[in-house]
Amino acid sequence: MKKNGLVIAIDGPAAVGKSTIGKLIARELGFLYIDTGAIYRAITWKVLKNNIDINDENVISNMVSNTYITIEKANCKSLNDYYHIFVDGEDVAEEIRNPRIDQNVSQIARLPKIRKQLIYLQRILAEKGDIVMEGRDIGSVILPQADIKFYFTASEEERIKRRHKELMNKGYSIDYEKVKKQIIQRDKIDSKRKYAPLIKAKDAILINSTEKSIEEVKDKILKIIKNIENAGKKQIENNII
Ligand code: CDP
Repeated sequence: MKKNGLVIAIDGPAAVGKSTIGKLIARELGFLYIDTGAIYRAITWKVLKNNIDINDENVISNMVSNTYITIEKANCKSLNDYYHIFVDGEDVAEEIRNPRIDQNVSQIARLPKIRKQLIYLQRILAEKGDIVMEGRDIGSVILPQADIKFYFTASEEERIKRRHKELMNKGYSIDYEKVKKQIIQRDKIDSKRKYAPLIKAKDAILINSTEKSIEEVKDKILKIIKNIENAGKKQIENNII
């Protein structure tokens, strides 16, 4: 039987650079890249579109059962056009980045029923390996057997600055204080929820990207992956980079 390909898990708080680095690594390695946050954002998009109460777990769960989500690779040349995500056939890749989604997504992602429904989809996506999957609970809950796990951190100030700049570049006129409030609130809900909170898996390698360029972080991670692959062994516990 053919051995499945490598599975790389990346977790970390909001706006820490997981997506940018995740995509660059996946592109370099020729791996599939799956942003699980986009799945929660897509669910949130549909909840808001249908004016469903974001706290009504049963109604949202029922909606999720009747929702068809697919992810397709786009032209991976631009990081902003890396994949398409469809909700019942409609491409929502752009719309799920709206600050309105940022404001509501964590309330929905904290609901245990919804998370449990999405485990299966995420595991199926990762099944064949040669994949970089990023989110909040990938190394801890979704893919605890991942070959290599990373946990990203960066100072709160730097994360807020990065997200504010990113939104402004996309044409949203949102003030810095609002972005700050949203990020702090989202991190709080994500890390305090009872089921599958944002957490560093014990065997995840900690990457602090504060004051490091994207290139620096990318090169470091690729080096670690190569070293682990060459050594043919699992990663070193609690390695702090
Ligand atoms: O890109 P950013 O770091 O802002 O967030 P994201 O990765 O798009 O995730 C959006 C939200 O989805 C998070 O704040 C979490 O509430 C939720 N999420 C989650 O609960 N579990 C995941 N595996 C991924 C995202």
